[in-house]
Amino acid sequence: MSTKKPFYITTPIYYPSGKLHIGSAYTTIACDVLARYKRMMNHDVFYLTGLDEHGQKIQTKAEEAGISPQAYVDEMAKEVKELWSLLDISYDKFIRTTDNYHEEVVAQVFEKLLAQDDIYLGEYSGWYSVSDEEFFTESQLDEVFRDESGNVTGGIAPSGHEVEWVSEESYFLRLGKYADRLVAFFNEHPEFIQPDGRMNEIVKNFIEPGLEDLAVSRTSFTWGVKVPSNPKHVVYVWIDALLNYATALGYGQENDANFDKFWNGTVFHIVGKDILRFHSIYWPIMLMMLDMKLPERLIAHGWFVMKDGKMSKSKGNVVYPEMLVERFGLDPLRYYLMRSLPVGSDGTFTPEDYVGRINYELANDLGNLLNRTVAMVNKYFDGKVPAYKENVTDFDQELAQTVEANINEYYKQMDAVDYPRALEAVWTIISRTNKYIDETTPWVLAKDDSRLEELESVMSHLVASLRVVAHLIQPFMMSTSNAIMEQLGLKGQFDLENLSLAGLPNDITVVTKGKPIFPRLDMDEEIQYIKSQMESGSKNQVSDSKEEWLPENVTLTSSKEEIKFETFDAAEIRVAEVKAVSKVEGSDKLLCFKLDAGDSDDRQILSGIAKFYPNEQELVGQKLQIVANLKPRKMMKKYISQGMILSAEFDGKLNVLTVDQSIPNGSIIG
Ligand code: ME8
Ligand code: MG
Repeated sequence: MSTKKPFYITTPIYYPSGKLHIGSAYTTIACDVLARYKRMMNHDVFYLTGLDEHGQKIQTKAEEAGISPQAYVDEMAKEVKELWSLLDISYDKFIRTTDNYHEEVVAQVFEKLLAQDDIYLGEYSGWYSVSDEEFFTESQLDEVFRDESGNVTGGIAPSGHEVEWVSEESYFLRLGKYADRLVAFFNEHPEFIQPDGRMNEIVKNFIEPGLEDLAVSRTSFTWGVKVPSNPKHVVYVWIDALLNYATALGYGQENDANFDKFWNGTVFHIVGKDILRFHSIYWPIMLMMLDMKLPERLIAHGWFVMKDGKMSKSKGNVVYPEMLVERFGLDPLRYYLMRSLPVGSDGTFTPEDYVGRINYELANDLGNLLNRTVAMVNKYFDGKVPAYKENVTDFDQELAQTVEANINEYYKQMDAVDYPRALEAVWTIISRTNKYIDETTPWVLAKDDSRLEELESVMSHLVASLRVVAHLIQPFMMSTSNAIMEQLGLKGQFDLENLSLAGLPNDITVVTKGKPIFPRLDMDEEIQYIKSQMESGSKNQVSDSKEEWLPENVTLTSSKEEIKFETFDAAEIRVAEVKAVSKVEGSDKLLCFKLDAGDSDDRQILSGIAKFYPNEQELVGQKLQIVANLKPRKMMKKYISQGMILSAEFDGKLNVLTVDQSIPNGSIIG
């Protein structure tokens, strides 16, 4: 008989409306970390993720791609599963809302709610954002457009997406009737929504102004679950989607053993703050209507944003996880995402931060500690780790206290799903242990036979501390954790539940030579690499801003955000003549240019265009356009690049932009 407590954890089911970016990866890894942590803490875990495959947005995407919606989502589902396998996501089930069992239960639930009069037929007129698959009242819009006589003709949802007017027969869900019960539930369970404060926002913004009944069917497209008793209606995609959390466990089906077990255990939903409204109002009310238990916890995290705003598939300013994994490995990605988004607020993804954390926190702090420890145990004790004893050197006690305190802090923060703080606790242990080496100076102890016991204690403390660290990071960085355990001679011996320094087993032998777990990176080069990938990953986007003077049918397109004239004017673009050009040793991408740009001396610029100019000497004598006031950058460790050469890319080709030979070098272009 198992005494393990059932624990159910879910991600949102994502729209397969485009390639998933690090935003969806963030939520999925966050749930994975919790699933792995709970498994190690002796829970019986069921981890669910999947895809939200119905709705107008998906139908439109498929039409654009010229294939059937089913063919479209089948292909996307394959890609998403590949991504989760690349990120080592330990889900127990992957649900697709086009799965038959799910569709059947959605139809069944809809008819049940109709029969008990929680759903009724009416007429919906209002604003709808297809991108968000969400209804809005006029006052909820961020911006409204009006014609000359002041009539509202359109608007922008808080997400930045345009809304369209919808007027059709629709079924409605009687949310209003349940508002008081929902507020009562909130009051009885003040910890239901995390972080604190979000519950108040929900009550103030959506419940206090009066909770309106929700339109829950559409007639203007067909890609969804048909209402059995009135098949010109398809079930609103959010009703369909939210039910996934129950159908995936077998709810409404013949075999519902998992449902009985896990729905009655602890249920955690982790979502982004953009969809908190659906999970904190619609979902609990649906559960009340169905006489089902409500979840324990609803965690709404903030967003990873880019410098130019929220990352979104439709905006095209995205970072893809595949590129980061391919270049730097999986563990840095999992670590970075979990470490750098503070609970409850947004965080900015920057290439500088990404590479910096790998170098300082992973390679320096953790990697070096392991290297030094393994090397010293080999040097002083032939690899045999001395038995752990307490309180031998003057520094043992303080180290032990710091470690024990931070193990407890880690448990506390993991239970609160505050990963940045949990990892901070781990890094406090790591820094304290590094400091312990400096304090105890083992290389001095080694010279003095009378201090052998101290040297033994230092080595066993270092190994014991690293063993603790390997446990604590296991849910976040599985291979790093396994590699540390292996180098310490402890392969596979995890016990996170009863973790302490003193738990270090006797008679272990470290590996003869430890392989560095994180290579040190060339900061400039790697930052540049990420940036170049972000640029090539962005796609053209239809501008949202509509200027008054634009004729109705002209749409400007740009892949970047609109900027002020001053921002453009800050760049100095000059004419520069190529005096010499050469290939850069060790790089197949870079060319090194010497240019006359009207400066007192030649200017050197490195440009990643080598593959477009196999005969680079043809460029000598040409007059190019360069950005002259960019901050000089160091590249490939030893080259200074003093500007940027402008070029245009088309059809996989690239041309540098030249100007007429009659224009003097150094002329300003503007
Ligand atoms: O909303 N930073 O799907 P979706 C952090 N199908 N997290 C982000 C993010 C970012 N920049 N961008 C997206 C849907 N996310 C519905 C869900 S559930 C019954 C139905 C994450 O593809 C975050 O978890 O738009 C957000 O809530 C989710 O992706 C939205 O995914
Ligand atoms: Mg969305």
